[in-house]
Amino acid sequence: MSEFDRRIDRSGTSSAKWDQYQGRDVLPFWVADMDFEAPDFLLDAVRARLEHKVFGYTRIPDALVAAFQGWLKRNYQWQVPEEWLVWIPGVVTGLNLAAMATAQPNGAVLIPIPVYYPFLSVPANAGQRSIEVPMERDGNRWVMDIDALEAATDAETRILMIANPQNPTGRVYDQAELQELAAFAERHGLVICCDEIHCGILLDPAARHRPIASLDPAIAERSISLYAATKAYNVPGLSCAVAVIPDAGLRRRFNKARRGLTPFIGPLAYAASEAAFNDDSGWLDRLLTYLRGNHERVLAVAGERMTPVEGTYLAWMDVRDLGLDDPGAYFEGFGLGLSDGAAFGGPGFVRFNFGCPRSLLEAGLARFSAAIDGAAST
Ligand SMILES: Cc1ncc(COP(=O)(O)O)c(C=O)c1O
Repeated sequence: MSEFDRRIDRSGTSSAKWDQYQGRDVLPFWVADMDFEAPDFLLDAVRARLEHKVFGYTRIPDALVAAFQGWLKRNYQWQVPEEWLVWIPGVVTGLNLAAMATAQPNGAVLIPIPVYYPFLSVPANAGQRSIEVPMERDGNRWVMDIDALEAATDAETRILMIANPQNPTGRVYDQAELQELAAFAERHGLVICCDEIHCGILLDPAARHRPIASLDPAIAERSISLYAATKAYNVPGLSCAVAVIPDAGLRRRFNKARRGLTPFIGPLAYAASEAAFNDDSGWLDRLLTYLRGNHERVLAVAGERMTPVEGTYLAWMDVRDLGLDDPGAYFEGFGLGLSDGAAFGGPGFVRFNFGCPRSLLEAGLARFSAAIDGAAST
């Protein structure tokens, strides 16, 4: 039995994922947290901080900065000075601040879709226009349509916002794709904001994560890269994130945008993130092995409806052929809580979070199959 096989009762913890369906026989596979305990070494770090018993306003610990810098260098051969870093309470906060930092009258934010749904509120939050450009399915993977991005970009477009690994399609962009995207941003003078929160969760052994900003100093100058340890180590409730912004002017505008808006990050969150960035325990490798097993099961059941997931623990499933008015509600009717693709800019799709014990996954997949059969027989 794997350490990840254990079913943990999350009732009574006000879990967003589970309480959504409180009192109903609906198994939740929607919001992106996993039904696994955080690793012991991380819990020990939080416990040690907890034992101090005073939780005042806390500055960014030097040890956290060093841990993050070491993690970037170890994993991605990217060396960043401390002055490039802006610590923020969450990655979504960072997306919004990036748009505020680049906002101008009649400005626009360019967003390939489908994408993690909070991206889609960012332009309006910053008083900017939104330009959404559909990605394309190219055989077994989703790709950005550079020609469509070119055609959609206008003179007032200020910033391109992407996620890599991509939520919900599970793509991990390769070097050539990132370079092509960077060249496109260069041609149009765009800032690139890249949300890399899922970079620790690579399922395809052939996939390699590359921070787009690390490809070339010229790309770095136009970039805002967002990181957090909270996704891979499953502690999104101990939220802590960091923006890497090499250009001093852009960083100044980003810092100006956050004045009065972003609170101090909590000391327990700092402790968790520092422990995660320093991790050499092997826990993450074991988690990835387990998630790969889950992924095989999901792929076996969903087949051609999904493309193989290169990164993240999220499967993007095409159910357009079923002709459902409201796919989310339809699957709930079969006891399955999925994320409806419409919110991501992908109507007719659903997103299935497979970050859970195998037995729970199997129960969910059985319900998924029943729902597909049910729709096919009507
Ligand atoms: C791509 C992506 N970005 C950001 C977040 C959330 O980040 P945070 O909780 O730090 O705002 C998620 C959570 O699912 C995500 O999938």
